[in-house]
Amino acid sequence: MSKIEILATDITQLRVDAIVNAANNSLLGGGGVDAAIHAAAGPALLQACKVLQGCATGSAKITPGFALAAPYIIHTVGPVWRGGRQGEAQLLAACYRNSLKLASEQGLRSIAFPAISCGVYGYPIGAACEIAVAEVSHFMANHGGIEEVIFACFNGEVKTQLSQCLAKRQGPSS
Ligand code: APR
Repeated sequence: MSKIEILATDITQLRVDAIVNAANNSLLGGGGVDAAIHAAAGPALLQACKVLQGCATGSAKITPGFALAAPYIIHTVGPVWRGGRQGEAQLLAACYRNSLKLASEQGLRSIAFPAISCGVYGYPIGAACEIAVAEVSHFMANHGGIEEVIFACFNGEVKTQLSQCLAKRQGPSS
């Protein structure tokens, strides 16, 4: 039975098969959750990322988790919010879809996401959470393999918005 959970937690602490990193196109580290993951995984992560030679916005690439509890990290690059008329929604949806696809192809069963693009990249949190919940729900309804998805929330607004989006989807019975 697949499940979606919303937790107020530091994603680097989660014992799942893969945690998702909200990276930038270089994959060479940065701030926010990217910095936290690199700090927790250790310097070997940067060496592994250098080999990947970057990542296009909306795409996803995988590395080991090194010193993390999670054996894998899936790096994806969200869109920078530029007002909503430059394909941002489609690119953000692709981040979730391609990360789940990659995890499924690797035979992973549990994955944790941060709120991609909701920090430095400035995506409006409500709209981003709608996309996140829609893509994860659709993927899990149409593919086997992934049994657990955790949304790791680092601020209250993200947790509130995700919870509302999920409750709307699950309907009054939930
Ligand atoms: N665990 C879970 N979530 C976290 C953590 C953490 N340890 N640290 C930050 N977050 C949350 C933020 O609060 C935000 O809701 O992750 C979400 C995404 O924020 P950013 O990390 O700023 O990522 P993003 O908006 O996608 O911008 C990506 O920022 O850090 C740089 O290198 C990164 O250039 C890239 C850009």
